Amino acid sequence: MKMIKTLIASTVACAALIAPMTQAAPIEIKFSHVVAENTPKGKMALKFEELVEQRLPGKVDVKVYPNSQLFSDSKVLEAMLLGDVQLAAPSLSKFQKYTKKLQVFDLPFLFNDIEAVDRFQKSDKGQELLTSLEKKGLMGMGYLHNGMKQLSAYSPLKVPADAKGKKFRIQTSDILAAQFEQVGGIPLKKPFSEVFTLLQTRAIDGTENPWSNIYSKKFFEVQPYITESNHGVLDYMVVTSKEFWAGLPEDIRPVVAKSLKEAIAYGNEVAGEKTRSDRQAIIDSPRSEVLSMTDAERQQWVEAMKPVWKQFEHEVGKDVIDAALASNQKKS
Ligand code: SIN
Repeated sequence: MKMIKTLIASTVACAALIAPMTQAAPIEIKFSHVVAENTPKGKMALKFEELVEQRLPGKVDVKVYPNSQLFSDSKVLEAMLLGDVQLAAPSLSKFQKYTKKLQVFDLPFLFNDIEAVDRFQKSDKGQELLTSLEKKGLMGMGYLHNGMKQLSAYSPLKVPADAKGKKFRIQTSDILAAQFEQVGGIPLKKPFSEVFTLLQTRAIDGTENPWSNIYSKKFFEVQPYITESNHGVLDYMVVTSKEFWAGLPEDIRPVVAKSLKEAIAYGNEVAGEKTRSDRQAIIDSPRSEVLSMTDAERQQWVEAMKPVWKQFEHEVGKDVIDAALASNQKKS
């Protein structure tokens, strides 16, 4: 009897010692992105981290890596499929290798403004595009705004002829390349992390980006002229891998999904605020001059760049382009 009691006591003691060691380690979610923290995407990622860690303490550990610290956009999706990163939100221009349909967002002068982009993203066709990466093992979790793009350069860009012979950094999109070729520019696909240095050393003449990227990455300090062109959009798709998502425990997945949804809604609010405040900060800065276009000047850019729509219609899909165009009409 004494021997049995001793055996039970030592079993209990061993179990108590082992328990903390066998407690499941938190699920790690690495969120990699290329922009600064003080941007719509940077703030959205931090909000997601905050919400998940509040709601799932000790169960899920979110780590955000901004400023291309972990992966550039050209590597992040491959890394996601290998399980080295779980969340990212590349610009919609960077999915060309995975689907051509998302390139609708690159067509110049297609959307009148960010409200039209928002209406399209919420439409049936826009929502359908969130699933366009599934065959490649990726899941679109939602769209996130940054804003409409502005042209910038070392010399004023008022009419298309001003772009002739100038080197422009672009994202990895053939439509964006065609857009600059239409005005006689020389497009160069380069990673976001290199843009400041390329501009500063004058290896390139200009670029296109929304106000928040121009401000947070200090492009306005090395681009004396910024033309308020609103000629295209730079928004994001928040993505994860199908395998990672399916592997999340049943009690964790809905909480992560809810937190992501709320963080995206917050990021979209930030995008609106940053578009206004960063634009104003650049206007107020002595480092660069913000130029506006007259209607006639704008019409010249539209006429020069619009042939790109037809050129890429067979890849993007006429149905997708038509749905995007329809979103320019406000619903009454
Ligand atoms: C980003 O906003 O994520 C980067 C966009 C770019 O590469 O220009």
